[in-house]
Amino acid sequence: MEIKELIQELKRKKELSDLDEGFVEHRVIDYLKQNKLEEQFKDKKFIKTRRYDILFKDLRRLLREAYGMFRSDDFKEHPSTKSRIIYYKYIYKKIFEITGKPKKILDLGCGLNPLSYEYLDCKPFYYAADISNNELKIVNNYFKENKIKGETFTFNMVDSSYKDLPKVDVCFLFKVLEELELIKRDISEKVIKEIKADWIIASFSKVTLGGKPIKKMWRVWFEKIIKKLGLYYVIFDIGDEIFFVIKKD
Ligand SMILES: C[S@@+](CC[C@H](N)C(=O)[O-])C[C@H]1O[C@@H](n2cnc3c(N)ncnc32)[C@H](O)[C@@H]1O
Repeated sequence: MEIKELIQELKRKKELSDLDEGFVEHRVIDYLKQNKLEEQFKDKKFIKTRRYDILFKDLRRLLREAYGMFRSDDFKEHPSTKSRIIYYKYIYKKIFEITGKPKKILDLGCGLNPLSYEYLDCKPFYYAADISNNELKIVNNYFKENKIKGETFTFNMVDSSYKDLPKVDVCFLFKVLEELELIKRDISEKVIKEIKADWIIASFSKVTLGGKPIKKMWRVWFEKIIKKLGLYYVIFDIGDEIFFVIKKD
């Protein structure tokens, strides 16, 4: 079987259809390696076996957990942005009181967050990156329609090289590290180390999509990483979200 065929099959589910192909390919290759299936996979008959069904289900589940779930094209309805819509102005005010107003922002795993540009209360150049082609398209249209100086690009935070990223004043990592950790445990430390920014703002949700409290103590876990790296940081909570403002350089 060809990896490309499997990628197309996996992406047939609506919520995975706009996911970056490179990201899916990496997950397939990782899975084949971890399960020592590289040789078996090449066999044309593999697709008819029970092991293939298991592989398919495992990969779909992984992709759905790390990426899929529920998405909306509407900024006010998208789960991440919806929960902070009434707080946006306050969130940015609080962040920039610490960091100063930025000239350049990089938003990684941006989703539809760049559509909150008007609440920034300054006019920085805005780099927006994600693995969702659909979301990047919406953000790009929004930038064009509102004559915002910015750029959208695909960036896979698990597998791409951080050397290619621009150097900025402030980098947003809003509600994205949890998703990366599902794919690669302990990747967050590397992410924080490799981003070229004066300040990094990482956030975590305190509730699940269904509104239930999240069991994993992101605050404790993430604070450990920041302390280990010896970085200065400030924490605050707004709504159902915890924000870490971290001084990088
Ligand atoms: C919970 S949403 C948060 C969106 C946005 N940061 C916000 O807070 O409004 C997580 C986002 O991370 C993106 N994402 C997940 N895995 C990623 C990866 N490996 N590389 C880049 N983006 C990723 C998803 O596509 C999604 O847009």
